[in-house]
Amino acid sequence: MELRHLRYFIAVAEERNYTRAAERLHMAQPPLSRQIQQLEEMLDVALIEKGSRPLRLTEAGEFFLAHARTVLDQVRDLKAMTQRVGKLERKLSIGFVASTLYGELPDIVRRYSERFPEVEVTLHEMMTVEQMQALKDGRIDVGFGRLKSEDPSIRRILLRNERMVVALSPHHRLVERQGGLRLRDLVHEKLLVYPKSPRPSFADQVLAVLGEANVTPGLVTEVRELQIAMGLVAAGQGITIVPESVQAMHHRNVVYRPLEDKHAFSPILFGVRHMDRSPELGNLLAAVYSIYDDLGIAYTPETL
Ligand code: BEZ
Repeated sequence: MELRHLRYFIAVAEERNYTRAAERLHMAQPPLSRQIQQLEEMLDVALIEKGSRPLRLTEAGEFFLAHARTVLDQVRDLKAMTQRVGKLERKLSIGFVASTLYGELPDIVRRYSERFPEVEVTLHEMMTVEQMQALKDGRIDVGFGRLKSEDPSIRRILLRNERMVVALSPHHRLVERQGGLRLRDLVHEKLLVYPKSPRPSFADQVLAVLGEANVTPGLVTEVRELQIAMGLVAAGQGITIVPESVQAMHHRNVVYRPLEDKHAFSPILFGVRHMDRSPELGNLLAAVYSIYDDLGIAYTPETL
């Protein structure tokens, strides 16, 4: 069996149609059908139900599809990692979500670069879902994001859970409230969430936290990014919920109040290609933990 058989089968299974799959693969339909037939003969099992329109996979076909995807992901990882090992110069491309810039990211990168000056570090701002694809494509080697994922080709290590806080205009009525706020205090509020796309995003994390507390805000407006949400808060156009490190962004006309609900937190995750054990990644993780040690931030250490 060749890798092309896996690629052809995945295209047919995803398109549920030979003509569309052949178009996607830039080939004619008869040779594609022959290749799938050949694959079934090699396996001695039917992968596609005979005569089904649109095509339906047999149980064996569904099984083969899931594993064929994993094999192709691993082949792609192997290529990216071998290229990294073979290169004399050491490089580390880091993807990060914007809010981590207000947390420990700058200190971590500075400490890592001081310890490993021979490694060329590049930083790329991107949402967590974009990081997943960039990791698979080899455009980044590690992603600092906030969303958990079930993708088997990506390993995500939880670094810490960060409390969420509410950002408000100093003239907002909730500012006078003594102590922290509860999610239920936000019931009649105009809530700004970000980013609008791609989804799922931090916006969905905030909405899920509210949903878990059975809170439906008066109005939810999706905005493009964190900076826009903060600007609109300053203009008195609503409130927003942010990770507490964002408080380091001293925005004129924005004040912050902690959220006291137990589940109102956002994780910070370290995402890498599943099989990648490059020393650069282990050293970066060690730099994260050494900053946490200095700051007294609690964590559960993991190794790559
Ligand atoms: C943090 O704030 O804990 C953090 C931010 C970016 C990367 C790693 C950790």
